[in-house]
Amino acid sequence: MRQSAPHASGKTLNLRAQVVKTLLAVQNGQSLASVLNQHINIVSDKDRALYHELVLGCLRQWHALKQVTLPLLAKPLDNAVVETCLYVGLYQLLCTRVAAHAAISETVEACKQLGMESLSGVVNAILRRATRETEQFYDVLEQAHGLPSWLFKRLKKDWGDDFEALSYELKQVAPLTLRVNTLQVSRDEYLEILEDEGIEAHACELSNVGITLDESIHVPSLPGFEAGGFSVQDEHAQLCAGLLPNLDGKIVIDACAAPGGKTAHILEKYQPKKLIAIDQDEKRLKRVTENLERLALSDSHVSIVTADAAKWTADELADCIVLDAPCSAIGVIRRHPDIRLLRQSGDIAKTVQLQQQILENMWSQLKVGGTLLYITCSILKVENEQQMVNFFANHADAQEQKIEAEWGIEQIHGRQLLPQSGQGDGFYYCRIMKSA
Ligand SMILES: C[S@@+](CC[C@H](N)C(=O)[O-])C[C@H]1O[C@@H](n2cnc3c(N)ncnc32)[C@H](O)[C@@H]1O
Repeated sequence: MRQSAPHASGKTLNLRAQVVKTLLAVQNGQSLASVLNQHINIVSDKDRALYHELVLGCLRQWHALKQVTLPLLAKPLDNAVVETCLYVGLYQLLCTRVAAHAAISETVEACKQLGMESLSGVVNAILRRATRETEQFYDVLEQAHGLPSWLFKRLKKDWGDDFEALSYELKQVAPLTLRVNTLQVSRDEYLEILEDEGIEAHACELSNVGITLDESIHVPSLPGFEAGGFSVQDEHAQLCAGLLPNLDGKIVIDACAAPGGKTAHILEKYQPKKLIAIDQDEKRLKRVTENLERLALSDSHVSIVTADAAKWTADELADCIVLDAPCSAIGVIRRHPDIRLLRQSGDIAKTVQLQQQILENMWSQLKVGGTLLYITCSILKVENEQQMVNFFANHADAQEQKIEAEWGIEQIHGRQLLPQSGQGDGFYYCRIMKSA
């Protein structure tokens, strides 16, 4: 068993203090994935499940918890440690089954351990009040949109009447969804394997190779993981391969490929003559190699290339380009709740510009008659519909191939999927053909 982290006085930090430290690192701009890698080792094995739940839950409810506490304070706390302790305490009281006395005493102790003894009384007082007025606190939490104000304004403008339902969905926990590697096993067969193991799951409605698990589970312990029987992939992300033309014998570029979810799906469905998987991030590209190896797809004709897709040029023009563009990732906020704190309003314009540069360069690598599928996991129109309006306005040789589907919302160009309870994340797809 691992040791808990010591703090300045030499005493070990309690679990709530460790949670607060992780949340402070995210507030300082570090991604949750990178912080978890460093912090998880100092959390004892028996505490890890609660540590994860408190970190992810607090991030998911961060702005909602802020909305709950603001009216209770005579003046803003202006102290990140105390504010974070308060949210960690309130989250336990309003959203978990942790006993109230343990939630309060452990959180107040964390506040002291983190050097804020003088302000721990404020935390104690508000948490005690929350135990007396739980229902009122809970109502405010439920009704809060839980978004930073810049994002609230953008989503309200983009989605008008659908905004309330959308902000509710964004606060939910996304399901664990698998994509079955049908080169190895059919979906029905894998569902039977899961049933035999006593794991409850059901077939996805929109993806014909998708399975959603009815409860969260440690993925590597699922049957067939090591042998490459499946990948973890959101249901709406699985729609990509079905929107492409037949790629057997074709030249394909996956312009922003890492960690390779869509690359692998393409190779499970088709046998391209050549597939070039590009990404700027060398570390993330290693995961493409690992994933293809695990799925027994590395013998396919794949080149993995570290390059800037806004500048890279191909040796020969491609029949098909999948452009899963870097984006704000607001559509996958359920799975990455740290985005609520990390993403800033000013990031969006830069991202839109990068998308436009990559689109521009990739368009010039496509054959006449070829198809480019533009994808984002964003739900902001500026990255999706508006990006495409501008693209079509500037490219007379671009023709939209409308996606006729039962799913999503038809946009001026392309189709938008919004996150849905028990189902997929927010994704945008637009299919473009190059005419002479
Ligand atoms: C949405 S993710 C791709 C997900 C991937 N297609 C999948 O299905 O697993 C976007 C990717 O774009 C990459 N990226 C960002 N800027 C890039 C650039 N200028 N050139 C190439 N890749 C870039 C990021 O490293 C990231 O891996």
